[in-house]
Amino acid sequence: MNASPPLVVVTLRPATVEDCKPVWLWRNDEETRRASFDPSPIDYATHQSWFLGSLDNARRKIYIVVAQGEPSGVVRLDIAARQATVSIHLAPERRGQGIGPAALRALADLASGELELAVLLASVKPDNHASLAAFRRAGFTASRAGPTVTLARDLREGKG
Ligand SMILES: CC(C)(COP(=O)(O)OP(=O)(O)OC[C@H]1O[C@@H](n2cnc3c(N)ncnc32)[C@H](O)[C@@H]1OP(=O)(O)O)[C@@H](O)C(=O)NCCC(=O)NCCS
Repeated sequence: MNASPPLVVVTLRPATVEDCKPVWLWRNDEETRRASFDPSPIDYATHQSWFLGSLDNARRKIYIVVAQGEPSGVVRLDIAARQATVSIHLAPERRGQGIGPAALRALADLASGELELAVLLASVKPDNHASLAAFRRAGFTASRAGPTVTLARDLREGKG
């Protein structure tokens, strides 16, 4: 695993209503849509209803990625039992700086700590090299299954 250190300090904070618009803008960015399994643009009303509903959904956790004090992207967990599916997308100008792997490592710490989860999973398109590299740098292991690559990190490893 290539574990290059982040160039910036990265933290996560729970998303709030005020984050609705920036998350929508990041989600509708062309590269993010290309990486998504549903690449169609999302209109603001649809996003707003999904986002506000998500803030009230105990099985979904949305965190804003803060790098050098600036909101720089979003990570999400969709939780089922002690397992969660991860998604991540950063602001276009914040990519390629090691922020993604640092955010995923912070998310794994949070998931194994206060959320008491056992396993994190993500599905990535095989041609999304930036995403595959970011997950690998954050300790995820890849396996190919049909048209997607599944990345997994067992959070129990290394725990007594
Ligand atoms: C995928 C993503 C989360 C990775 O986070 P990141 O902070 O950009 O990751 P890194 O800085 O470690 O970069 C990973 C690789 O992508 C390259 N890269 C990604 N975006 C880049 C950019 N805009 N400019 C330059 N390089 C970029 C990096 O150089 C690096 O390449 P390497 O593995 O050959 O060294 C982020 O690029 C992103 O949000 N992309 C758009 C949405 C997306 O694809 N989400 C994931 C869906 S599964």
